[in-house]
Amino acid sequence: MKAGKRKVKRESSRVSALLLCLALLTGCSPFSGVTVPTTQTAEDTLPPEEDIRNLISVGFSQLGAESAWRIANTESIRGALTKEDGFYLLSDNARQKKENQIKAIRSYISQRVDYIVFAPVTEEGWETVLQEAQIAGIPVIAIDRSIELSSRHLLTSWIGEDMRQEGEKAGLWLEDYLKECGRQDDPINIVVLQGTQGSSAQLGRTIGFDSIADRHDNWNILEQRDADFTTAKGGEVMETFLKKYHDIDVVVSQNDDMTAGALEAMDRAGITTGEGGVTVLSFDSTRAGLQLLKDGRINVDIECNPLSGPLLADVIHRIENGEEIEERYYMTENVFTADNVDRYIGHRAY
Ligand code: AHR
Repeated sequence: MKAGKRKVKRESSRVSALLLCLALLTGCSPFSGVTVPTTQTAEDTLPPEEDIRNLISVGFSQLGAESAWRIANTESIRGALTKEDGFYLLSDNARQKKENQIKAIRSYISQRVDYIVFAPVTEEGWETVLQEAQIAGIPVIAIDRSIELSSRHLLTSWIGEDMRQEGEKAGLWLEDYLKECGRQDDPINIVVLQGTQGSSAQLGRTIGFDSIADRHDNWNILEQRDADFTTAKGGEVMETFLKKYHDIDVVVSQNDDMTAGALEAMDRAGITTGEGGVTVLSFDSTRAGLQLLKDGRINVDIECNPLSGPLLADVIHRIENGEEIEERYYMTENVFTADNVDRYIGHRAY
């Protein structure tokens, strides 16, 4: 995609801004059936224009602070979009609620920021607010999770992770591991702790893992339950599983935070995990996750890379310079086991 220069964007923005003002005054959007609320709730607001002259203003809606991964992602964005590198960053924590993200994005639209960046909590429900940003002439870049859209032109770019591939990697690792242990034909009972329902992280990892599980009649997925990517819910859901099932062979936990909660629940029940015990597959590869791997408490950690800040800054600079940018950028991601964890754990910053 050829990105227009900011000057061009600003001119078309003026027309769009007029439309948006009309919409705000009347409470109606130029799109039929869409109402533009006038309340705004972003945590930050832009200072006077003269204080940020020559800086690129970016409104960032982070979906929450539910996990160590998320905090690392927020830090990566904040660390890259600095004043020294030409940015003025506004940010908002949506506390895992789509309504809060929509309010923050609307607030950024009405403040006329140069760019909007958001990490969408779920895949669906963004069409209307992205149309509003488009009318206002503000480029929107989604990061981390992906979204469903009727038109790809509502997003300027996307920088994130291949969640489906992460799920497949987990399934493929389990396939190989069971072969190595000579258990490839045994009945294998699996429980899954899922992340936030409807998020691309939950959907992708589930679809990816299931696509490998479907190849094995002996893999029996007993249950998949929402634990919202948090340690507390991971513990609660694992306790429920342990009460219901007494023959669990494998726990798949869609992030390290839920894994920590699940391990505590298994500890309390006197269940051994890792080599020789219940096999545990985790996602993210935070430092805490890698430590669990090193300590032999879990068997594999599928990386999800949160450090998208520098690439985001680069993409915005390219747009500013009128250079080509990609529609989608995928972060590079690894798979960690006891065999390679020592090479990485020392450098893990989060
Ligand atoms: O979208 C990335 C996921 O969201 C990470 O796996 C998880 O830890 C986070 O909350």
